[in-house]
Amino acid sequence: MISENLKNLLTDEILAAAPVTEPERQHYFIDRVRAYASELKSLQGEALKACVVTFGCQMNARDSEKLEGILSDIGFDIINDEQEADFVAFNTCTVRENANEHLYGRLGRLKQAKKADPDMIISVCGCMMQETDEIEKLKVKYPYVDIIFGTHNLYTFPELMFSLLRKRSGRLDEEAVNSMGHEILKDSSDDALRLEKLLRYGDSKSNRKDMEKLYRKPVVSVWKDNSDIVEQLPSKRKYPFKQGINIMFGCNNFCSYCIVPYVRGREKSRKPEEIYEEIRNCAKDGVKEIMLLGQNVNSYSGGISFAELLKNIDDMCGDIGIDRIRFMTSHPKDLSDELIEAMKDAKHVCRQFHLPLQSGSDPILKRMNRHYDKAKYLDRALKLKEAMPDISLSTDIIVGFPGETESDFLETLDVVEKVRFDSAYTFIYSKREGTPAASYEDQIDEATVKDRFDRLLKVQNKIVDENLDKMVGKKLKVLFEELSEYDDKLITGKLENGITVHVPGTKELIGSIREVELTENHRFYFTGNVVG
Ligand code: 5AD
Ligand code: SF4
Repeated sequence: MISENLKNLLTDEILAAAPVTEPERQHYFIDRVRAYASELKSLQGEALKACVVTFGCQMNARDSEKLEGILSDIGFDIINDEQEADFVAFNTCTVRENANEHLYGRLGRLKQAKKADPDMIISVCGCMMQETDEIEKLKVKYPYVDIIFGTHNLYTFPELMFSLLRKRSGRLDEEAVNSMGHEILKDSSDDALRLEKLLRYGDSKSNRKDMEKLYRKPVVSVWKDNSDIVEQLPSKRKYPFKQGINIMFGCNNFCSYCIVPYVRGREKSRKPEEIYEEIRNCAKDGVKEIMLLGQNVNSYSGGISFAELLKNIDDMCGDIGIDRIRFMTSHPKDLSDELIEAMKDAKHVCRQFHLPLQSGSDPILKRMNRHYDKAKYLDRALKLKEAMPDISLSTDIIVGFPGETESDFLETLDVVEKVRFDSAYTFIYSKREGTPAASYEDQIDEATVKDRFDRLLKVQNKIVDENLDKMVGKKLKVLFEELSEYDDKLITGKLENGITVHVPGTKELIGSIREVELTENHRFYFTGNVVG
């Protein structure tokens, strides 16, 4: 049972005094929840522990750093094992079906821990929570989830945490799931009404049971969209020497297979000044490498083009001590000559380019709504190679898109052989409800897809081996990141082109850039020795 001291930190007056503007409002709730956590700490004698589990892409990894920043600010110690944590957040991905299955597996395994410690708080957020069916499924099958929120209101997490604590102390308020003028995809206002009724009809035993049930329902706040970008909230860097920097959010492309535009909303770009400031702050903290993040960085529209933004960032990085700039993802339809030139002239931009192909067949690209054909893709990829012969190209490829024939697939293989990608992320098409491609009738049978997927992998692996063999013996710069997971006498780092290298070394090397001679190619990584 929650003590009076704690209850006094969650009163209606405290809620009513919250500022209405952002980010001040969330800072206010961070302070309030911190006061609560600190009281709890003095009662329990130890700090609370939090674990954020991240699925999916770099965008999600960046969002998780924001969650961890807020949690640290509140007073939680951040740990890696969700089974040991007082607070767990699952930051979900839904780009392919298996991402969803991952979440349910992990949640299922947490059921016992929650049973043993009913005070544990479990939260689910991210892309999957932008789908109403998934929210319903969580509520029914995983009733031990406490807080659900989406991609558009991640920054309201402190407020949602405050609501949950109020709910646990015996209050249920609609303000707790404040939509702040945004259209709500899902909320708990129905619950608030039901509770109000129960309260009006007195305190009978059965009423109390019903009320308890309601208190145990999750705080749910998922917004349909949000055009604001809320800056200046805490963030916790996962690696001290490298940082992802959002330059834009969302996607306007609506590729016919892809759920991202539905769950991440329309494109919105951050202002250049905000981006520069974040980069300057990273440099002050000793960050060596930044990765500019967006679903489609080529359509950045913060008042200047992406090429100009990249050039400006490259210019400033020399002075402030950032050695490496990366960016992802680029859409071939928007890849301008201006960007290729800017990259070629840049001093700190890594010679690495991720250019998703998806398919090499013109009719399939058209059905995918990609707005380029095979010839245009080849033109862009070859132009990049011509401008920067040492560039490393990577790509994404989907196999088994509805209607894909053998000859369509051979067109994809043809592009793979012509471009000779240094790495390729290959995916089996996954049907996402709500996307146009999900209703295409000519879905491909599993055996055919599997056969094509294996053939693609074989061709691509051979190319990778050949490309990487040519690099053995070279002396190249490596940014060291961490001790090897498998052998603590080895240290792991990344080449400029993104490939992993393992060398004998100690943790003192972490965060430094050193010259390494590559001695052996292991397809997904090199081994070597520090030589300079
Ligand atoms: N099925 C398979 N792969 C997909 N991707 C996006 N949506 C799907 C889907 N429905 C892949 C694309 C994209 C990458 C991030 O994920 O290749 O570039
Ligand atoms: Fe999805 Fe296409 Fe947008 Fe990439 S560009 S996120 S594949 S819709």
